[in-house]
Amino acid sequence: MQVKVKGVGLTKVFRLGFFGHKLVNAVDGVDIFLEDGGKACLIGESGSGKTTLARVLLMLLKPTKGKVFFNGTELTTLPESKLRGFRRRMQMVPQHPEAFLDPRWFIYDSVAEPLRIHGLVDRKSEELEKVLEVTELVGLKPEHLRRRPMDLSGGELQRVAIARALILNPEFLVADEPTSMLDLPTQAKILAILLELQRRMRFTLLFITHDFNIARYMSDYVYVMYSGRVVEEGGVKDILEEPIHPYTKSLVRGVVYDLEGSKGWVRCPFYKRCRMRLKVCSEKPPKMFKVDGERKVRCWVYGEER
Ligand SMILES: Nc1ncnc2c1ncn2[C@@H]1O[C@H](COP(=O)(O)OP(=O)(O)O)[C@@H](O)[C@H]1O
Ligand SMILES: [Mg+2]
Repeated sequence: MQVKVKGVGLTKVFRLGFFGHKLVNAVDGVDIFLEDGGKACLIGESGSGKTTLARVLLMLLKPTKGKVFFNGTELTTLPESKLRGFRRRMQMVPQHPEAFLDPRWFIYDSVAEPLRIHGLVDRKSEELEKVLEVTELVGLKPEHLRRRPMDLSGGELQRVAIARALILNPEFLVADEPTSMLDLPTQAKILAILLELQRRMRFTLLFITHDFNIARYMSDYVYVMYSGRVVEEGGVKDILEEPIHPYTKSLVRGVVYDLEGSKGWVRCPFYKRCRMRLKVCSEKPPKMFKVDGERKVRCWVYGEER
């Protein structure tokens, strides 16, 4: 496969508290490979590090450790002046579009803004043409462009957010739970539009969700995240049919684990609940092991090192 975006050993530690003494390992040694023109999902509960990982891949946050590659170029060592050329090519659709749209602006200006920031059009007529084109692509009408954010529904605002990202014709698009605030019929429409645009424009899509039904619809490959680490990855069908990791099972089958006090990675957080546990599971955090083909799971039961 042709890799578009690659993350190796990505780690992001936040410092909290007045003196910055409390450390949060939001992302903790993640390896991720996104195929050119492919569709992958990041799935995991709230706080598992999905948004942080995405922001690191887009170089919106500098990783504490690890490397990000785009088309084979390492971005993590580039100075900001050189990064600028890559920024247009990597875009994000946020979870809360209203937070990114200026309430005083006409929608037209919000959609056109990325073109202006990146200096991509010289003439107003050219700008108008591009704005109208992308407006139609996301299923909005020209009259929406003359309104302000408060006069649009949640679904329409999300379409504006998609338009803002796609007007730059990106090669890599992250959609961060873009429909989680919408009602079901609106969700379905937005997801269908994103899929159709991905098929036509062939950008590499990383979709973030906490819902396996959405992951199945939106992607071919999934990374399951728990507490900053990938615990299982593989083809979405394989994982849905036969989840291996206890956490993936809980997401697929809707089992809820009470993991109070066992978060973090001093050992396997699922040690107490797991019927297959080995001695090592209580002693060391599990590593990632290949299962068959392209599947991987963070579980000692599938490892050589015991
Ligand atoms: N800017 C930040 N400063 C400090 N901690 C953060 C920051 N952003 C995220 N975190 C923490 O990192 C962890 C992962 O957060 P996040 O990436 O937003 O998870 P998710 O998107 O899966 O809900 C959480 O514990 C969160 O509180
Ligand atoms: Mg998030």
